[in-house]
Amino acid sequence: MEKIGIFYGGSPKGSTYKTAQSLVKHFGNSHAAMHNVSEATREDLEKYEYLILGTSAWGIGEMHQDWERFIDVLAEASIEDKKIALYGLGDQIEYPESFVDGMGTVFCRLPFKQNVVGFWPTKGYSYYFSTAEKDGKFVGLALDEDSQPELTGERISKWVSQLKSEFRIN
Ligand SMILES: Cc1cc2nc3c(=O)[nH]c(=O)nc-3n(C[C@H](O)[C@H](O)[C@H](O)COP(=O)(O)O)c2cc1C
Repeated sequence: MEKIGIFYGGSPKGSTYKTAQSLVKHFGNSHAAMHNVSEATREDLEKYEYLILGTSAWGIGEMHQDWERFIDVLAEASIEDKKIALYGLGDQIEYPESFVDGMGTVFCRLPFKQNVVGFWPTKGYSYYFSTAEKDGKFVGLALDEDSQPELTGERISKWVSQLKSEFRIN
């Protein structure tokens, strides 16, 4: 059975979805599977050893709307022993005061913050403020397909290597 569940919420077939697909490819089909948060259940969350949660930022600094229901599902699920990593899509040019804030909100509402791994450097991004920044790092992988699409591939590859070591899987 797959060990890693990737739960994503963004516009239909958009960048958050494509990132989930890319993560499955990097980890391999036999290790990872993806779920849209608009349909995913508590049982889906509980069956994995490791969780990756992805959202784009909408409105002004909000999670994608599909996360509104699922964030409550997360809070009720028995996931206290699982390592969790986050990724967020955003646009630092158009939304420099709320860059990847969707990821910041997911982090803020997570019941088990001590289980979060996959923190990511803020170097290489240009923005004024982000709720996803804690102690000088992003709480997960920040991706900007609007103004830095050329950096996405390398960022994902590096983050996956980091996660393999933090999840302690080969
Ligand atoms: C109406 C609207 C509001 C947005 N608000 C933010 C925001 O507050 N912060 C941010 O970093 N990006 C913001 N974005 C950019 C999206 O998060 C970004 O384009 C992302 O790649 C979309 O991913 P998706 O297609 O998977 O939903 C916004 C985009 C739109 C259209």
